Amino acid sequence: KVIHIINGPNLNLLGTREPEVYGSQTLEDIEAMVRASAGDATIVFHQSNVEGELVVFIQEAGRSADAIILNPAAYTHSSVAIYDALKAVPIPAVEVHLSQPAARESFRRRSLVSEAVTGTISGFGANSYLLGLQAALKLAKGGG
Ligand code: DQA
Repeated sequence: KVIHIINGPNLNLLGTREPEVYGSQTLEDIEAMVRASAGDATIVFHQSNVEGELVVFIQEAGRSADAIILNPAAYTHSSVAIYDALKAVPIPAVEVHLSQPAARESFRRRSLVSEAVTGTISGFGANSYLLGLQAALKLAKGGG
């Protein structure tokens, strides 16, 4: 199974970015943690601060992956382009967040992306990615 993990803006700054909200692990730490629990699944890991690049990554996943794990970061709350890209690809997606957006500022309460994914895991820090991996592997073509 091939799982693409796509990370949006400012997640490259994890570790130093508001650690009281997002924890002290870097995105590289999270990538290593996910790879260590991926078994024989192939993990492709992307990050971009640019909305259109995230669209390109989603389209690429649609051609070559079995499922997507996506943390759209701030674009969660605004991006019709990411919503449309998820709708356009033939594979399932899991939305993940380190924090619990529903418990934060009111502008984070709405996720456009949620309407285009199978489900969302949020609020568990870096563990949201591990839980997301479990969900994505179950969803991936071939089941299990
Ligand atoms: C985030 C939550 C978003 O609201 C925020 O804009 C982020 C990170 C999270 O993982 O908790 O950048 O997606």
